[in-house]
Amino acid sequence: MCGIVGYVGTKKALPILLDGLGQLEYRGYDSAGVALVEDGQLEISRAPGRLSALKKLLTEKLTTSTGTNGIGHTRWATHGKPSEANAHPHASEGVCLVHNGIIENHLELRRELEREGVVFTSETDTEVAAHLLAKEIKTTATPLDALKQMASRLRGSYAFLALDERFPDRIFVAKTATPIIIGVGEGEFFIASDIPALLPYTRSVIMLEDGDIAELSPTRCYIERDGVEQKREVVQITWDRTTAEKRGFPHYMIKEIFDQVEVISDALRERVDMSSLEVDLSETHLKEDQVKATRTIHLVGCGTAWHACLVAKYLIESIAGIQCVVDHASEFRYRSLTLHKDDIVLAISQSGETADTLAALLRGGEQCRTVAICNVVGSTISRKADHVLFTRAGPEISVASTKAFTTQLVAAYLLAIALAEMKGTLEQRREAVRALLNLPGAIDSTLKLNDVIERIAERYRTHRHVLFLGRGLCYPIALEGALKLKEISYIHAEGYPAGEIKHGPIALVDDNLPVVVLLPRQNELFDKTLSNLREVGSRGARIIAITDSERHDEIAPYVEEVVTLPFISHHLTPILMSIPLQLFAYHVAQKNGLDVDLPRNLAKSVTVE
Ligand code: G6P
Repeated sequence: MCGIVGYVGTKKALPILLDGLGQLEYRGYDSAGVALVEDGQLEISRAPGRLSALKKLLTEKLTTSTGTNGIGHTRWATHGKPSEANAHPHASEGVCLVHNGIIENHLELRRELEREGVVFTSETDTEVAAHLLAKEIKTTATPLDALKQMASRLRGSYAFLALDERFPDRIFVAKTATPIIIGVGEGEFFIASDIPALLPYTRSVIMLEDGDIAELSPTRCYIERDGVEQKREVVQITWDRTTAEKRGFPHYMIKEIFDQVEVISDALRERVDMSSLEVDLSETHLKEDQVKATRTIHLVGCGTAWHACLVAKYLIESIAGIQCVVDHASEFRYRSLTLHKDDIVLAISQSGETADTLAALLRGGEQCRTVAICNVVGSTISRKADHVLFTRAGPEISVASTKAFTTQLVAAYLLAIALAEMKGTLEQRREAVRALLNLPGAIDSTLKLNDVIERIAERYRTHRHVLFLGRGLCYPIALEGALKLKEISYIHAEGYPAGEIKHGPIALVDDNLPVVVLLPRQNELFDKTLSNLREVGSRGARIIAITDSERHDEIAPYVEEVVTLPFISHHLTPILMSIPLQLFAYHVAQKNGLDVDLPRNLAKSVTVE
């Protein structure tokens, strides 16, 4: 989710790089840096904080710099806290590079390089690439060959721009699983991780493909893959800047819903070993003896993150067998607590800055160990917790949380597996982990239901009340579906455990009430939920069933709509069930002409009590 830019041509590169970084700041903003080749020497400037800090540092240089070739980076931290040392570019012996992506095998490469005497100056995964490139350059004919060698050692996702001071008019590029776009000018090329950075300069672009390696000079763009030169079409971009930031979607919310395939893949990177099917959460520094001694995990969060806590409770209790208690952070912080020193307080927060969640975590920390599941590296909650697991959803701009929520569920699932491993109680690990590997594909298939959900949203969008029902792991998803609808559509919606409606809410059911029923295929839950569905159906409710079961014949007589999702595992069903509900809320709000990304009265991050 970092932003990267490059320029090679005849104009002064620095203002173009800083402008491009400004256009990309929405992708991440905890530190920034640029590198230029000035008189045959690399000159690197980096600063923690927003881009304005780097601009301030470079005020004088903006007038003196003459370099016409450079690269830049705005960082959204994944490995290592936001700091100058961790900011890009990273350099080694006359070469430097910027990187967007995650290098999964960075630790083993780091150890290998350290054994050879390389001294590391940052905590990032990227620095290994800089040292590897410098090493390969010593034994290969050209920097492009060195880049190929370097890339062949890496596992994971990356887009790299590299400079070599011996080739002052060249930028070297490598790309796999992370976007990189080349803007074509007259005697110049612009390079960026995203289209908005290119739009002030050119609308003619070349999209690089996975496995591409490129060398750019002011007059030539050479691309090759697997040793063969590639001829790529120059395409014309017709989007304006805001549309480009949203990747062509009309709102951030729908863009972020569609980001879920990519960010969930990122959340799994280097944590799940595809061949051994093991989960590695050593980054949390949780110790086996601490986990074995844990009596109770107290989960705290607010809003959507509180729903993630409810799912995490089910997952941790069922996979790791550790008792969990869930609290709204705002309640926990003032409640009489009976915390034990061997308990854990686990806070879930996208921003890492929510005042109530922070206060709950600090209160827990007075008596026991604290863990955070958090999206923003360097945020207060991530710094105050004893152990952190980052969700890697990237910046979430729409107020209504979508991709942050599903990555929280992925993190909770990984944590549950890791806790069970440490306790020595994990059963069927291979099945549990294999299911995760199918998750990005299943999300992709679920997103293909967008048109179906849009049609359903059109059918029900004028109703003033909607009920959402679910049981077990799907109960928190019913709550989240209702919250999404309330937040952006201003429609009164309630999520309820399906087994509880007979104790009150069933009185609301009439022949005009839409009821969304989540029906997971798990036998017992399916049968029980189906009987709850019949209870509301026989009272005239207009039912929309969302299911991963194939037992459609049993559902069909009672419902107006059935949405069928792919199935990968019972524990991952809540993630897939969330997606049609996010899409439903989005389309209802959008069709009703509401401000989807900035709903009234709400803030993205609530840093006051
Ligand atoms: C606000 C947002 C919600 C979010 C909640 C918790 O209310 O509008 O979308 O779930 O804060 O935020 P956090 O950053 O702690 O996850």
